[in-house]
Amino acid sequence: MAERPYIVGNWKMNGTRAMLSEARAIDRAAQRYMKVEVAVAPPYTLIHAVHKEAEQIGVGAQDCHAGPEGAHTGDINAPMVADAGAKFVILGHSERRQDHAETNDCINAKIESAIDAGLRVILCCGETLETRDAGKAEEFVLGQLKAALPKFEDPAERLTVAYEPIWAIGTGRTATADDIAAMHGAIRQLLVDTYGEEASAMVRILYGGSVKPENAREILATPEVGGALVGGASLSAESFLGIVVGASESDES
Ligand code: 13P
Repeated sequence: MAERPYIVGNWKMNGTRAMLSEARAIDRAAQRYMKVEVAVAPPYTLIHAVHKEAEQIGVGAQDCHAGPEGAHTGDINAPMVADAGAKFVILGHSERRQDHAETNDCINAKIESAIDAGLRVILCCGETLETRDAGKAEEFVLGQLKAALPKFEDPAERLTVAYEPIWAIGTGRTATADDIAAMHGAIRQLLVDTYGEEASAMVRILYGGSVKPENAREILATPEVGGALVGGASLSAESFLGIVVGASESDES
């Protein structure tokens, strides 16, 4: 990995205040691996508490509403998560696309609102097994990104892309290194075409889908993999830190 690896835990709909001890343990241990950028995205209810605990790690949200404050019962917008202490937001996750029928246009609007609120964005993309088996994975993923990528000129500090094949999420199944390298290479080319060589060079492309301490080193050593977006294995400090260690070692190789 050329750039500083970025390891992000997505806690999804997990975690009560009892999980703060895990966040604290992750934060303290991350201070020993300064070459790795470590972050967690807890549920909304824990953002502020994790932010108060965190000295080293970044804290983010898993979604935000695209609009300004107003009559939207149950919704939380980008300025609100920023106020709670979030520095980034995950947008376009396949679980949001499936559970809440989020379209690429809606995700694009959320990205614009997040950037306006000063948040960094992790934009997720990924295909179903059906789409992969039909030989259309690359076309599908690039289509998702083309429709959702914001049009700003300087993406370096603000944008991260996460490739998460849906069939690899929570299934224990990971894509092969060749599949990951091919998809990340295609995404890199799209970023170059969209933002230019220099501006896009700093945009990291994370891999997500059953990343664990046992497979992290190999995945993170794959060309164009700039880090990992981790679900299940981020829920315990021990397994999440195993991935952080893997990232620090693959950075040395
Ligand atoms: P798992 O690591 O549990 O497969 O989840 C991946 C993911 O969806 C992270 O956003």
